[in-house]
Amino acid sequence: MKFTLTQNDSKSKARAGLVETDHGTIETPIFMPVGTAGTVKAVHQRELDTDIQAQIILGNTYHLYLRPGLEILEKAGGLHKFNGWEKPILTDSGGYQVFSLAGTRKIKEDGVMFKSHIDGSKHHFTPENVMDIQRSIGADIIMAFDECTPYPCEFSYARNSMEMTHRWLKRCIDRFDSTEGKYGYSQTLFPIVQGSVYPDLRKQSAEFIASCDREGNAIGGLSVGEPAEMMYEMTEQVADILPSDKPRYLMGVGTPANILECIALGVDMFDCVMPTRNARNGMLFTSEGIINIRNEKWKDDFSPIDPAIAGYVSTFYSRAYVRHLTISKEILAAQIASVHNLSFYLWLVKEARKHIIAGDFSVWKDQMVKKVSTRL
Ligand code: GUN
Repeated sequence: MKFTLTQNDSKSKARAGLVETDHGTIETPIFMPVGTAGTVKAVHQRELDTDIQAQIILGNTYHLYLRPGLEILEKAGGLHKFNGWEKPILTDSGGYQVFSLAGTRKIKEDGVMFKSHIDGSKHHFTPENVMDIQRSIGADIIMAFDECTPYPCEFSYARNSMEMTHRWLKRCIDRFDSTEGKYGYSQTLFPIVQGSVYPDLRKQSAEFIASCDREGNAIGGLSVGEPAEMMYEMTEQVADILPSDKPRYLMGVGTPANILECIALGVDMFDCVMPTRNARNGMLFTSEGIINIRNEKWKDDFSPIDPAIAGYVSTFYSRAYVRHLTISKEILAAQIASVHNLSFYLWLVKEARKHIIAGDFSVWKDQMVKKVSTRL
């Protein structure tokens, strides 16, 4: 993997860059649609590519390991071959998912014992086997095995957890560096900064992660219920410490406004279930603000969902029709809303990149944050 910084914004810490992988180049800042189980829910691959213009998608170790399982993924030749997405893929390590299985998991120094949400069977994740599993899935970018602390979180818990995440990282690196990709292309491992909302811990974690000198770095443990201002403070502090010549990935963030604010703090990569999950609940993000498509006010609005977004579904389907489909619980409602919301997120980061390169990002960002936060 290679990262090239194309442009630094003069009035903020925003940057434009390029991440090159064996499955193609990603223009940053970028939003990565979440495809937990090897599918971006309700969206097929051709739409992801041509309509939404996604450049990289996510997969999840926890879900893919449980189903379809490694035997099938290896037989297929890896996740790219299995799901037909030929562009870059990133897999999250399962840390986040396993830890959210409260009550059905046990954390120890060696790793985490957990019960499958599918059939209740018992499994063990360790830093080593999570590296092996991600080698078998075959994503271009794989994530270290970490503990994502909840919010709120006692200082002593956050410190012990962060220290364990750091010890786990050393084990991840040892295993990753002593193994090879299984499908003939290269993979890279991103470590994850933790430390909850404690500045001392965040500093310590960011310095440790930076010292590991990997090809890219991630910021975890945020957007877990803390106030947005706190999330921005932690992100800024950590981004300032992480090396500027490597991509910075803020995990699980966020709303369109969160993404714009964090681009301004020097973040390059984002993922979040929000555009797809909220789409399935009738929330549409547009360049003018947020629409609850169930609202009666849209029943005879025959204008397109968002004429500013070039994608097919955003300009073709009317708000009135999507409302009708949603109220009628038609499958097509989820498909249209998901494709539209992702088209909007990808449009937003592409515009941000354009404005960083044009030199007027800060002014544009402040106007855009107001617009995209408005409830229409
Ligand atoms: N997704 C969102 N936050 C996190 C995190 O802290 N760790 C991991 N592994 N995934 C995440």
